[in-house]
Amino acid sequence: MTRTPVNVTVTGAAGQIGYALLFRIASGHLLGADVPVKLRLLEIPQGMKAAEGTAMELDDCAFPLLKGIDIFDDPNKGFEGANVALLVGARPRTKGMERGDLLSANGGIFKPQGAAINAHAADDIKVLVVGNPANTNALIAQAAAPDVPAERFTAMTRLDHNRAISQLAAKTGAAVSDIKRLTIWGNHSATQYPDIFHAEIAGKNAAEVVSDEQWLADTFIPTVAKRGAAIIEARGASSAASAANAAIDHVHTWVNGTAAGDWTSMGIPSDGSYGVPEGIISSFPVTTKDGKYEIVQGLDINEFSRARIDASVAELVEERDAVRELGLI
Ligand code: NAD
Ligand code: LMR
Repeated sequence: MTRTPVNVTVTGAAGQIGYALLFRIASGHLLGADVPVKLRLLEIPQGMKAAEGTAMELDDCAFPLLKGIDIFDDPNKGFEGANVALLVGARPRTKGMERGDLLSANGGIFKPQGAAINAHAADDIKVLVVGNPANTNALIAQAAAPDVPAERFTAMTRLDHNRAISQLAAKTGAAVSDIKRLTIWGNHSATQYPDIFHAEIAGKNAAEVVSDEQWLADTFIPTVAKRGAAIIEARGASSAASAANAAIDHVHTWVNGTAAGDWTSMGIPSDGSYGVPEGIISSFPVTTKDGKYEIVQGLDINEFSRARIDASVAELVEERDAVRELGLI
């Protein structure tokens, strides 16, 4: 049976994450090796020519699953019929820019994109926001799309999740595939909290295996939370291939499900679980099945974790209040 191609819209398609992402989407890593895709690339006018170049290269790969590529600089066209939207393009912070300026500049991108998704995307649209500040950009887009169920708007903390697994594997000598049930809580920022208290390493409790609270507080958490800055320092550019990889992982897991006994981390609109104020887009432990996710309930949160979750959530509340004040939500 021939399957109908899935329409995948990627914004910021001519950027460095876009370049690392598009070829993997077209080769079947986003949705599955048997799922044909049509790509819809959205750029600003200045990015159109470079996006055309990337589209030429995609053609040159002769990917069997790639059933078409269209390029737009109008969000109303870019999101038409989109089943999956990866919102990567964002306004980076430049010298002398205050946080309010950054939120306001990104509001100018994510508000109209949310409205275009509301008006033109397919009924089953799933949105992943990668562009920073990812959680609050996702909130802005979600607020501009009142006809789309709020839970379809998500923000990427999978890169943080993968970074935390890798650091934990290096510390304990375990294989990354032996590490399960790790959680990133809160914001995709330096306040995020990577939590190993419920994680398992080859079936044993990770915090007990590590048994070193000082390493946790002084090395593990800051290394994971500040890894983005460390990559910028080392590479002279922000993470791109690892960010693209995490975006692929996020959507693949959302669509295809978490493995039995495991969970993942996603930035999602809070339903009030774990004391996180309803509506803000915060990272939680989630399981996924049949294209839907659920927050893992009933975890015992110790004092060490509570303080750190609360700090990151407080930052998200501040960002929400700032964009509310700017009239963006
Ligand atoms: P980049 O500057 O290389 O590319 C961004 C692209 O977006 C550019 O081609 C630009 O023309 C385009 N763009 C800007 N405004 C647009 C709009 N309104 N519509 C469509 N396209 C638009 O940046 P990059 O390295 O690809 O990173 C993109 C974003 O991802 C940044 O905000 C970065 O901070 C963020 N990021 C997030 C994570 C995460 O874990 N959530 C990780 C890494 C990077
Ligand atoms: C990352 O986590 O690598 C990025 O969000 C860093 C950045 O500021 O672009």
